[in-house]
Amino acid sequence: MNLVGQNIYKLETPELIIDLDVVDANFNTVSNAYKDSHLKMRTHTKNLKSPFLARQQVNAGGSNGGVCTAKVSEAEIMVESGFDNILIANQVVSNDKIERLCSLAKIADMKVGIDNVDNLQNLSKFAYKHNVILGVLVEINTSMFRCGVRSSKDAVELAKLANKLPNIEFKGVMSHQSISGSPTEQERWEIGKSYIDILLDAKKTIEEAGIDIKIVSTGETFTFDIVLEYPEITEVQGGTYALMDVNYPYMPFDIAARVMSSVIDINISLDLITLDSGSKCIAAPNFAKPILEGQDAELIDMRLDYSVYKVSDVNKYELGQKLFLLTTHQDGLINRWDKFVGYRKDEVQGVWDILGRGCHH
Ligand SMILES: Cc1ncc(COP(=O)(O)O)c(C=O)c1O
Repeated sequence: MNLVGQNIYKLETPELIIDLDVVDANFNTVSNAYKDSHLKMRTHTKNLKSPFLARQQVNAGGSNGGVCTAKVSEAEIMVESGFDNILIANQVVSNDKIERLCSLAKIADMKVGIDNVDNLQNLSKFAYKHNVILGVLVEINTSMFRCGVRSSKDAVELAKLANKLPNIEFKGVMSHQSISGSPTEQERWEIGKSYIDILLDAKKTIEEAGIDIKIVSTGETFTFDIVLEYPEITEVQGGTYALMDVNYPYMPFDIAARVMSSVIDINISLDLITLDSGSKCIAAPNFAKPILEGQDAELIDMRLDYSVYKVSDVNKYELGQKLFLLTTHQDGLINRWDKFVGYRKDEVQGVWDILGRGCHH
């Protein structure tokens, strides 16, 4: 069904709707900050999962034209959609996935994070077998203890090996970090800088060993402006900033993605309303509750196909009324949907496939 031109309030619910004016504003904020700067955005597509949207940042400016992905399968979607400069900002370990990475390297500039000698040797072995070059960035653990080498000394050892191994091109270093809660502006800067300093110490140590570094890739949304203070950083892995979620009210980006829902039941005596959206269409990772936008309401229960909110003024709701759920994590939200409805000023502009949805490998 052609939805273009329809008012979003006429759509069936639940529906994932994305405000394209807000996406533009978020991308322009990045463009204005980075376009005349020494560093550029490499949008992380693990939460967007849409080559169409990722392309808008490239068009807006301030981007290096490439993207990050978390998975090989996401990288396949991005390459298929015309991106030819990809950083898989994670480790690719299994032989099967390394072979797929090598296939991509025949048609695109493929880079991947490394933190382990055996893995690096395996990457080289398969790259040699397939006659391709794989770019590698040593991942430095700065705080998350997820992946990444734990010291600058280990970083140098890996960089030296990468420099020697056939069909491997050592490109540089990368890191990713997070901050919890709602930090003050001062805390955000102090914590952000302390993480970046760890990354830059590794960079310096590698260079002191006589190895050239071309890429220093770091980041996320919360250090988007802090990185500008560091001339050494070449690119930023921003993800959440594009569609935003409720956890970053202190950053200069606005929420673009919502799940539009309808009220399907009103319980006057208990001050409860029931909506037609549940955990099948909006994710609630780490028990963080989706927010009912603009309402004085608290989530009481969320099941697969509905959710129940306790509201302060139950009399103001009516059956069929459209309300909007905001996520606390886009990755899970977007990954629940095949398509999104893009709109401007309440009017549908188009319906786009979320091509990277379900790319778990
Ligand atoms: C390696 C890596 N880089 C960048 C990002 C993007 O971070 P954010 O969504 O906070 O912008 C993530 C998100 O998880 C990540 O895992």
